[in-house]
Amino acid sequence: MRKPVRKAVFPVGGMGTRFLPATKAMPKEMLPVVDKPLIQYAVEEAQAAGIEQLIFVTGRGKSAIEDHFDHSFELSHLLGSRGKEEMLNSITSWVPGPGRVSYTRQQEPLGLGHAVWCARDLVGDEPFAVLLADDLILSRTPCLKQMTNAYAETGGVMIATMDVPKEHVSRYGIMKVKRDDGRLAEVSGMVEKPSPDKAPSTLAAIGRYILHPEVFDHLEKVERGAGGEIQLTDALARMISTHPFHGFRFEGERFDCGDKVGFLQANVAFALAREDMRGEVADFVRNLSNTL
Ligand code: UTP
Repeated sequence: MRKPVRKAVFPVGGMGTRFLPATKAMPKEMLPVVDKPLIQYAVEEAQAAGIEQLIFVTGRGKSAIEDHFDHSFELSHLLGSRGKEEMLNSITSWVPGPGRVSYTRQQEPLGLGHAVWCARDLVGDEPFAVLLADDLILSRTPCLKQMTNAYAETGGVMIATMDVPKEHVSRYGIMKVKRDDGRLAEVSGMVEKPSPDKAPSTLAAIGRYILHPEVFDHLEKVERGAGGEIQLTDALARMISTHPFHGFRFEGERFDCGDKVGFLQANVAFALAREDMRGEVADFVRNLSNTL
């Protein structure tokens, strides 16, 4: 029987240079969309997909993330004593139970592939998910849950994917596709950040992966690739002929919250999706667009 996906890796060791100066002393993953840090959206998405063990690959200056996923006794006591049950629930309901979260440190930000490799001993010999918190997805069913459902049929390697404009392919890992049923694309090649004239398609990898543990052997061997970083894409490309390998077109809208405009768009979209703020925010956006 296929092993279930029980563990998720959250690489949060990046420098977030596209978001300076906000990220000078604060982790990018703690930037809030409406009222919740990006990393909490990612953790809740993993929890909704049945993930039991959360593995953070952190770096220097990221300790706010560890504090966020711990209990805050003073705050809990204060809210409890004031009878603020709803608020109390909003800071405790998603905190992982004892022993359910582990941290390891990527001493140097050598790239996403290197960050994932740092988690090898914590993952061990089982399939696992990787979630990039700066890719925020607004959907009816959480994206990773959609993927674990599909993975139950396919196994192997699965990467969330979406079509991007041709002029944007150089920002993504791009897939070469063998067969495509509109939801699952069978992948026959992958290239990291190609120029538009060299891209094999416009189908891009988005920050949700289900990976086979063999990827660690390949990560150990790959050389630095695009941007001088150890690229996850390069290690994955070596597994295409030996494992079922799919791009998964998820239902939902993805926002690149590592980018300032993407982050602003996410805030508007997530606020409009919230019943308690939709009316006011919609009025504001409507009035604003009338003045443009
Ligand atoms: P990005 O490509 O967005 O890089 O990483 P970055 O350093 O975070 O941000 P910019 O480009 O300088 O603005 C994608 C994901 O991979 C993680 C990041 O934390 C982010 O979740 N990452 C990246 C690492 O964990 N370690 C790295 O060495 C690089």
